[in-house]
Amino acid sequence: MKDTIDRLRIDGAERIASAKNETEIETLRTALLGRKGEVTSLLRGLKDVADADRPKMGAELNKLKVELGALFDTRLADLAGEGQADGPALDLTLPGTPPTGAGTNHPLLSVLESVCDIFYGMGFSRGEGPEVELDYYNFTALNFPDDHPARDIQDTFYIDPKVCLRTQTSPVQVRTMEQTEPPLAMIFPGRVYRNENADASHSSEFYQIEGLVVDKAVSLTDLKDTIDIFVRNFFGADEPTRFRPHYFPFTEPSVEVDMQCVACRGKGCGICGQTGWLEIMGAGMVHPNVFKAAGYPDDKYTGFAFGMGIDRVAMLKYGIGDIRLLYENDLRFLNQFRGVL
Ligand code: PHE
Repeated sequence: MKDTIDRLRIDGAERIASAKNETEIETLRTALLGRKGEVTSLLRGLKDVADADRPKMGAELNKLKVELGALFDTRLADLAGEGQADGPALDLTLPGTPPTGAGTNHPLLSVLESVCDIFYGMGFSRGEGPEVELDYYNFTALNFPDDHPARDIQDTFYIDPKVCLRTQTSPVQVRTMEQTEPPLAMIFPGRVYRNENADASHSSEFYQIEGLVVDKAVSLTDLKDTIDIFVRNFFGADEPTRFRPHYFPFTEPSVEVDMQCVACRGKGCGICGQTGWLEIMGAGMVHPNVFKAAGYPDDKYTGFAFGMGIDRVAMLKYGIGDIRLLYENDLRFLNQFRGVL
């Protein structure tokens, strides 16, 4: 019997190795280990083995059974692996499923960078300033009178009487002019804070991009041109803009810039309050008192500045109806911009 067991061990292993698919494996498994299989009949034949040899032969046979079972399992796993490697199902030229788990830029950041890119194209460079700002730079140096309502604790988050969270990016104008001689053309993107209740169009934190150009004969016409180039590049080639007289302490004259309402195309609707226009930024010619605060001689240079809300231009361009969507980080909202921006 020992010889038969040894032969079956070698012979069985060879037959398993040459099985070509799952069906062949299963047929072979029945032939060797099944109820009427070769190993099983040997086990049945144990009763005829001499008493002295029977325990040893029994142990041998059980060992063989386990060994063959393991060989069957290994061969099955190998066949599954081979099937994947040379099966017909994998077409490498098909577009894959885009991975959804990977991170991507927030739509606000993408909009901010694309606005900056347009200004780089016009020769602007980029700077930045602190979000925790001295009251001096946020207001005083920008020609805000001491009793100006914007300084009121209602609008400004004060940390102590001299330090606040900046309410606008305009303080970076003064900080930059203190350090840099004209000519200069710069943009200053960044986050600003106002003590406001959140609703569909207000958030206590949002983003602005400030622009500043100072040189020897900079005029309001240069400002209008620069803004028009930006609007046409960002919103579309035919977008009309208009300047409306306004007041800011740090510019004179001051304007608000409107673009044609993206919803009604100038006819008048609920979104634009029937005016046909939507405000996109504040701007004006740098006030001589701001030059003075920055240490520039006030008779040598002229300049213009503008400040726009990035949230607002993003909302207008992509038809986003509620500013809070930009800050809630709901993936159902964010994923709509995946691959678009
Ligand atoms: N800082 C102004 C605001 O936040 C915008 C502005 C910037 C206006 C530069 C004029 C010049 O409303």
